[in-house]
Amino acid sequence: MTSAANSVITDLALAPEGHLKIDWVQAHMPVLNRIRESFEKEQPFKGLKVTISLHLEAKTAYLAKVIQAGGAEVTITGSNPLSTQDDVCAALVEDGITVFAKYNPDPQEYKELLIKSLETRPDLIIDDGGDLVSILHAERTDLLAGVRGGAEETTTGILRLKSLEKEGSLKFPMVAVNDAYCKYLFDNRYGTGQSVFDGINRTTNLVVAGKTVVVAGYGWCGKGVAMRAKGLGAKVIVTEIDSIRAVEAYMDGFTVMSMDEAASIGDYFVTVTGNRDIIRGQHYKVMKDGAILSNAGHFDVEINKPELEQMSVSKRTVRRNIEEFVLEDGRKVYLLAEGRLVNLAAGDGHPAEIMDMTFALQAMGLKYINDNYEKVGNQVVNVPYELDEQVARFKLESLGITIDSLTTEQKAYLESWVEHE
Ligand code: NAI
Repeated sequence: MTSAANSVITDLALAPEGHLKIDWVQAHMPVLNRIRESFEKEQPFKGLKVTISLHLEAKTAYLAKVIQAGGAEVTITGSNPLSTQDDVCAALVEDGITVFAKYNPDPQEYKELLIKSLETRPDLIIDDGGDLVSILHAERTDLLAGVRGGAEETTTGILRLKSLEKEGSLKFPMVAVNDAYCKYLFDNRYGTGQSVFDGINRTTNLVVAGKTVVVAGYGWCGKGVAMRAKGLGAKVIVTEIDSIRAVEAYMDGFTVMSMDEAASIGDYFVTVTGNRDIIRGQHYKVMKDGAILSNAGHFDVEINKPELEQMSVSKRTVRRNIEEFVLEDGRKVYLLAEGRLVNLAAGDGHPAEIMDMTFALQAMGLKYINDNYEKVGNQVVNVPYELDEQVARFKLESLGITIDSLTTEQKAYLESWVEHE
């Protein structure tokens, strides 16, 4: 059956716009282009079925096409109800990829689409946040047989995988793409930093300079968000639960305090912790009139929405992706993109040049798992350092940058334990 006949998407007629978007990112993804060329020759996935769950926009679409170029029969679904772009889905269907994804399906339909993507019985999977793995290990264990392994994109997904592994319940190997240097150093930091403000600014069309931005979580993503907020002229407050990261934020020049203190000071709030209830009832009580809340963490649990709704006398959409909540005393609090990842649900996600490196790791990580799944066994493994380094090398080459290499004497010096002269 053709991918068009199998697929569940919004409208195939949207394909032309989707093709333009994919062409644009492809032109800015030189590392992935090189991998595509080698996949075309080597056909590492020949005869295999691959199911991908990622934020379904143009960069992801191009990754799907690269894996298809490596010989795979590719099925793709979204990884968040608001980050799927219908025109991109239509273009992929025209390109022979089976798509189960729509923008803004209701929660039940969203889940059904994820399950349909697994009913194709993949040999390999790419997951983002751990939903595919969780379905395979909990609700649809009948679909487990035949899955050789896969690759996980993000911090939250890896945490979930590690708890499965710790329980001894993980049924196939997964490569932790997020934990590669060429992922978190660039994607989490520079990608999230830039795209979060792209999402916030295009949604609100308000000025950031002079305002107070509260960033919850000073992990790799939080560092990027705080850095870009500062660059836009904001006064930046960081909240943390980890003492070392709090000191780091302080030494990086940010004001550090608890959310209880920051809640009444912030104009903008960005949660990016991978944890729940970072902003909750006690914080809404003291927020400034007009405070703008957004989340960049993987799941929409960082801003407690049920409590906000409970404490509000009314709620309405005042602009695309902005909900206004009026609290009992008349103060208004604005929530962007329903508290889902603001850079993807209210924007196009990370820049193409950043996803070039992340998705190069995905493509190579998936090939690595396919080549080694029996040897690796049922565990979470890192992307081998050689592949990580190769992505950085390809990136430098694409930028026309040459770096030094060790001389024989330098190598011997570094490797020697005897007293250095
Ligand atoms: P990380 O583990 O490096 O950092 C998370 C930080 O949050 C840690 O420093 C932790 O101490 C802190 N934290 C935890 N609970 C907290 C609390 N109650 N209050 C304040 N701080 C708290 O993780 P990373 O890589 O920065 O990822 C964070 C989240 O963002 C994850 O859910 C990840 O999946 C997601 N992510 C989102 C992206 C996007 O495009 N929006 C891109 C990459 C990751």
